[in-house]
Amino acid sequence: MSAQIDHLLSETRQFPPSPEFAAQAVATAELYGQAKADREAFWGDQARNHVTWHKPFTRVLDWSTPPFAKWFDDGELNVAYNCLDRHVENGLGDRVAIYWEGEPGDERRITYAELTEEVKRTANMLAGLGIGQGDRVAIYLPMIPEAVISMLAVARLGAIHSVVFGGFSADSLRSRIDDAGAKVVITADGGYRKGRVSPLKPAVDLALSDHNGSGQQNTVEHVIVVRRGGNDVEWNSERDLWWHDVVPAASAEHEAEAFPAENPLFILYTSGTTGKPKGILHTSGGYLVQAAYTHRNVFDLHPESDVFWCTADIGWVTGHTYVTYGPLANGATQLMYEGTPETPHAGRWWELIQKYGVSIFYTAPTAIRAFMKTGRHIPQQYDLSSIRLLGSVGEPINPEAWMWYRDVIGADKAPIVDTWWQTETGAIMVSPLPGVTATKPGSAQTPLPGISIDVLDEAGAAVGNGNGGLLVITEPWPAMLRGVWGDPERFKETYWEKFAQQGYYFAGDGARLDHDGDLWLLGRVDDVMNVSGHRLSTAEIESALVAHESTAEAAVVGASDETTGQAVVAFVIIKESYLAEHSPEGLATQLRQWVGEQIGPIARPRDVYIVGELPKTRSGKIMRRLLRDVAEGREVGDTTTLADTAVMSVISAQVK
Ligand code: WTA
Repeated sequence: MSAQIDHLLSETRQFPPSPEFAAQAVATAELYGQAKADREAFWGDQARNHVTWHKPFTRVLDWSTPPFAKWFDDGELNVAYNCLDRHVENGLGDRVAIYWEGEPGDERRITYAELTEEVKRTANMLAGLGIGQGDRVAIYLPMIPEAVISMLAVARLGAIHSVVFGGFSADSLRSRIDDAGAKVVITADGGYRKGRVSPLKPAVDLALSDHNGSGQQNTVEHVIVVRRGGNDVEWNSERDLWWHDVVPAASAEHEAEAFPAENPLFILYTSGTTGKPKGILHTSGGYLVQAAYTHRNVFDLHPESDVFWCTADIGWVTGHTYVTYGPLANGATQLMYEGTPETPHAGRWWELIQKYGVSIFYTAPTAIRAFMKTGRHIPQQYDLSSIRLLGSVGEPINPEAWMWYRDVIGADKAPIVDTWWQTETGAIMVSPLPGVTATKPGSAQTPLPGISIDVLDEAGAAVGNGNGGLLVITEPWPAMLRGVWGDPERFKETYWEKFAQQGYYFAGDGARLDHDGDLWLLGRVDDVMNVSGHRLSTAEIESALVAHESTAEAAVVGASDETTGQAVVAFVIIKESYLAEHSPEGLATQLRQWVGEQIGPIARPRDVYIVGELPKTRSGKIMRRLLRDVAEGREVGDTTTLADTAVMSVISAQVK
């Protein structure tokens, strides 16, 4: 078996930044040289530039007990102070921190002074409930300002937050509360989603009840409830407190105490290969440094004039780093939106960009492809001229979607930063620098200054330019995970065992280096297919399918095949206009041929199934494992992490 992932697609378009953009850019090419000259000194500089330390650090990195890193570890800081008080002290109290818009259209405008005061009150309230350094607080909220306020209040006390995405069920919430041993849960009665109130408090009540009869006690002493949906809720008067009773009553005076740089900041759960959620642990100093550094340099942030919008929910790492910590540490003005993109109408996001003059827009390929499906005439009804930079995260962005994003949303001039990173990396690792890099549609391109990445074969040898393999991180980085909560063995096994000899972190992703040395992400290694001894990436074949005019979205998997080992099986969503005029059989034949022409006969799908939807997690990632079950005619596996659990029965029926 060949150890490399074969590369088949080629892309030659390049888009350098305009001279005007480059002239004003925050990040210049010199950063690469500085980082290369002395990586640790470089990170020391970033730490002093971006963060205010109560007690300065004298040591940048302690890597004496790998894989457990310590960054800036004799320094002390308060993360919330860095995101709030220091801006007010610097005379920026009147700057808007958050423009918030609810799904029904209600608005809030919160300045740095107001946000600081609200966080101080909330911190006092939590302290009054006995929350202090090291205690865990679960946050289960919709996208309302109280989500950010809660995170910062917990951070201010040196306690640890565990934000659980509001779309998760009572069972998922319970397992996360139990694993972390949370003392307090902050939730809301409900939040607006798709035009109606979606209740949250009942899930908390269920999670904390002994609903499965296990008799297991939970650790939660209090539940704080924000009134948002106005829906009726059950009340446990010994345990539950309304936010509007306890926060305004708390004092607005609160001095931020300094905590060590390695004080834990948050736990964020990701799904692992086993059912048990994996609590990724991040600490304070290093995380904040890299969050602020990347937010400023990758997004070319000019805090005095930009309006930044990251569309991620606070329940994902993207919401942690690029809604809460990065933008607020940098004193940015940002937009936060409660609802879904298509409510109450398909142009809602573009309407918001026009209304608030959003200049930096960061979203996911799955959203971009959904907008492509409904058509460019919708965004074209709005004035998007305020946009000067676009970002993408979460999945490989196929060149077709990249070009659409650039043309339709970016007026063919805003640079696109395709940012590769993970919950585990804490902050962006690979991305163009928008004023420096000539971007290539579909490539995340270059490790950021200070970050060391390589692509290896199974045996641990570098594959070199022109080849594909496994993405590794070869040097520790400030925002790296410090462990898996309560499970150091799982931390070592999952991330450090594969290339233990070299001491490299294995990310689980496939990637290839093109002839210029630029990185192309190829999807999760678990999803790589092996056809007649060739390792093929899902991302490339999906890109080819989406490049066909009939196709809105595609997912491919490898299904076992007697002759070729595995065969490529494609699941394709066809644009409505095409469905009306073509037979599914005709389309399937056309698409098989098309992929054969675009990539080569080896990649031609054995089967093409036309489906109405694809199985996705709540953060929009396609769950290929389930499609593999369908392709191989097995019973479909665990669907509990799907956004819509009914999708798989529909797909199975369509395939039959
Ligand atoms: C994938 C999200 C290609 C990748 C920040 C990674 C990407 C996983 C990109 C982490 C990108 C993220 N190009 N693939 N620009 N960004 N991924 O933990 O497979 O939700 O390992 O963090 O998403 O997902 P997570």
